[in-house]
Parts: sequence; structure tokens; C-alpha cells
Amino acid sequence: MTLPKPSSPATALSAPALDSWCAAQLGDPIRVPAIPRSPARGASFDIRSPDGHPAYTHYLFRFPAKFHPPVVSWALESYGRRGTPVLDPFTGSGTVQVEALARGMPSVGIDIDPLACLVARAKTTRLPSDELVEGLGLIEAMLSPFRREEQELEGLAATDISAAQFEDDVGGLSYPAIPNLFHWFRRYVVVDLARILWAVDRARFGPNTSRFFRACVASIIRRVSNADPYPVSALEVSRVQLARNADRQICVFDSFVSRARRQIEGMRALHDQCAKVDSCAPAEVVCGDALRARDVLMGVDLPIEYPLVVTSPPYCTAVNYSRRHKLEMYWLGLVRDQDQHIDLAHSYLGRRWVRRRDWEACGDFGVPELDRTLSEVAERKRPRARALRHYFWSMSRAFGGISRVMPKAGVLSCATGDSVSCGLPIMTTRFLTELASEHFQLRNHFSYVLRNRYMQYPLRNGKGIRHEHILVFERR
Ligand SMILES: C[S@@+](CC[C@H](N)C(=O)[O-])C[C@H]1O[C@@H](n2cnc3c(N)ncnc32)[C@H](O)[C@@H]1O
Repeated sequence: MTLPKPSSPATALSAPALDSWCAAQLGDPIRVPAIPRSPARGASFDIRSPDGHPAYTHYLFRFPAKFHPPVVSWALESYGRRGTPVLDPFTGSGTVQVEALARGMPSVGIDIDPLACLVARAKTTRLPSDELVEGLGLIEAMLSPFRREEQELEGLAATDISAAQFEDDVGGLSYPAIPNLFHWFRRYVVVDLARILWAVDRARFGPNTSRFFRACVASIIRRVSNADPYPVSALEVSRVQLARNADRQICVFDSFVSRARRQIEGMRALHDQCAKVDSCAPAEVVCGDALRARDVLMGVDLPIEYPLVVTSPPYCTAVNYSRRHKLEMYWLGLVRDQDQHIDLAHSYLGRRWVRRRDWEACGDFGVPELDRTLSEVAERKRPRARALRHYFWSMSRAFGGISRVMPKAGVLSCATGDSVSCGLPIMTTRFLTELASEHFQLRNHFSYVLRNRYMQYPLRNGKGIRHEHILVFERR
């Protein structure tokens, strides 16, 4: 089975024009409360669930381009059952693993991004909510001598503490060596974040509880920083945000406590669901490169065969994860300095800036339409074409790597989407199907409308891709 060939648009397209063009190719989406068990090939859905989807720990951290949980449920329930081991080689914040846990399916997630790994582990490590409530009470008690009064916070909205006061307040607390730290944070915010992390550390929780609260700290860092909370690119203080910051009251402790409380409720719901299905299915998360999935799994003694793989790999140049997560990674000690951060940036699949030594190895693909598209992009912007070439080359290797950890006839459900580069439509869905065909046979495909803006992949001017495609492959 191959994907139907779309008619190419006659001219170069802007992002919004591409969106309407894609919509026209797909036809009107069918409004459904959930994806049907056997979706018609090529169908397009608009999922409007009347009851919503259980929140569990899904919202612990605002992860860019997160998987849509109802789509994950569909994949797990269609191709697996209780006890089926599931792999997500691009686990991100662990959406697939949370849903697997709720169905009693053991799961393994791989991700290159250390923050993603921490968040996925925090979301999938079952903890009794009473213990977390008690833990939060302890943290609050330790922080209470440092709580800022309403009046002080009102005063700080338009100013900050002095450099001398900062030195006094921060005392022996540790805070990260983020380049240009006070561009990103007010001084008092640095003090308060350092105090919260000190309290989490001092409380001497076990490693899982400590990780849960550290993930809660990570989840407020962007919101209490000076940076745009919903960035257009990855991390910036835009002019609009600068104006907002001029008199913004930032209450770091309250943000942390309310966030942690909400997440404890999510953990309680997940815990209850696991008890209901009598699930003690393990969820393992490994930090590593999906292109070498088998070596990564063998390196930590995990099973190396998965009958079901459910994943949403990165889009090409859509989200700059290393930059997007920079502040959080520094604060949690996941990167220590710029060299380490730059090295990490060069390991993500789908990155915008690809070093010469990385793209030089990527030749043509023998897929005429893809090779032609890459030449056309190169005529307009060479660096863009290099990033695209590197992306498709890496994805081709990723399919090979994934196939090596699957048995024959195993199912791979992969989310993807088309995009635009230099005004040219990039038919990623079609190209990936061709690249995967050496190892996989396409069994089904459908698309759905992305409603949550945070799940849309940003393009220029904040315009996002609004249709995600699901490709269902069978391992040859
Ligand atoms: C679209 S996101 C996945 C989101 C995830 N499904 C969720 O719901 O949170 C893609 C993920 O791929 C990860 N990634 C990028 N390059 C990778 C690589 N070479 N190996 C493993 N993971 C990688 C990114 O760090 C990011 O977390």
C-alpha cells in the first residue's frame, strides 16, 4: 500500500497557504468523539471528545509538540493489550508511556533530551499521593521563613532586589551558570528558585519523590522567567514580553505550590487507574539516541524486542528542543556549561543547524520526488536544504534502528506531518513512507486536526501545522 499522490501546488506557498492546501488534499475532516477502531484509509478526523481524556500526569510539563493522548489510546488499544510491551523511541514527555501504564502495558521510552527523560520518568513513576502531599507540606514548611509578603511582591513587580541584596540572600545556595542569567530572570526570582531547589534537596526524599518535585520546579521555570511563555522560536524575550515584564508580579513559591498540588492530583488519578486495571507494569526511560535503539537498550539491560512501537518523531527544524529547554536544563543541573549545551544541541534529530561533518555524509535517497524537492530547496536556501537532507537521512536510519528491535509483523504507529520550507511544500508523510519501506509495509494512514496550539508544530509567524498524520506500518 502506498500513500495517494497529492497534486503538487503550482507555486511556492506561505505557511497559511500550505495549511489550506493540505486541508484541501485531505478533504473535510469527520467530526468524531474518538478515532474509530478501524479508521478508513486516508480518512481525516476532527476529534471532539465530549468527556475529555483523563489528565493523569500528562500536564506536568508543557512539552512542545506533545502527542495527543486520545490518539495514543487508539494506537495502544488497537494494536496491543494488557501486558504488550511498548516502545517509544522518541518518548519526549512520556505521553505514550503514561497511557501504557494506565492500560497495564510495560513500556520503554528513549529520548536524547535529558529534560524530556526527567519529565517522562517523573510522569510514569507511580507514587502514593499521600506521600507527595506530605512531602509538599514539608517543602512549604521549610520555605515559610522566606515567603514574600503580598506588599513586597507588589513592590518587586516594577523593580528588583539590588545586586548586594542578591549576594546576601543567595548566600550559600547554588544557582546555575546560565550565560546572561539576569537577562532571563529577575534577581529575586533566582533567589526563590534556588530556595525551592534547596528545600527539595534538604528534605532528603527518596530519588523518585525528589524527581517528582524537581519536575514540578522545571514546570514553572519558563513561567517565572523573563522569557516569553509561549515562544515563537525557542527561547527569547520579545518586545511584547519586555513590556509585560515591566510590572509583572512573579510569585515563585505560589506558582510552585499550586503546580505541585495539581500534579499530585494527576498522580492520584493515574495511581487509581493503575489499581483499577491491577497494573504494576514497569515504565523505563533511557537517555539515548533512537538511531541506535538496540545498542541503547542493550547498554542498560532492557529487552530488545517490542511488538508495538508508538511514537511521534520530531518534525524537521520545527522545535529547537535544546534551546527551548535551556533554562530548565541548567537549573536542574542537566547541563553545566555552554560547551556541554552546544554538544547536546548537535545530537537532536530535526535540528536546524547541521555541522558540515554531519550533512556531508548524507547523499541522495533514490526517491525521485524527495531528491527533486531537496534540489529545489537548495536553489533557494542551501542551509535549509542541508537541514532537510540530514533530517530525512536520520529518519531513514531511525526506521532501520527501530526495525531491529521489532519482531516480524510487529506494528509501528508513527505520527508525522507535512511542512513548508522556503515556500515549497515538504511532503514529509509521503517521503517517510518511502524511506521506511525497506523495513516496513504501510498498513493504514489517517490524519486528524490538531486543536491544542501547544501540540501544533510552530512555523514562521506562529502559524502551525494543523494536521497530524498517523502512519501504521508492519515490520517486514
Ligand atoms: C515530537 S517530540 C515527542 C513528544 C512526545 N511524544 C510527547 O508526547 O511528549 C520528539 C522528541 O524526539 C526527541 N529526539 C530528537 N532527536 C532524538 C534522537 N536522536 N534520539 C532520541 N530522541 C530524539 C526530542 O528530544 C523530543 O523529545
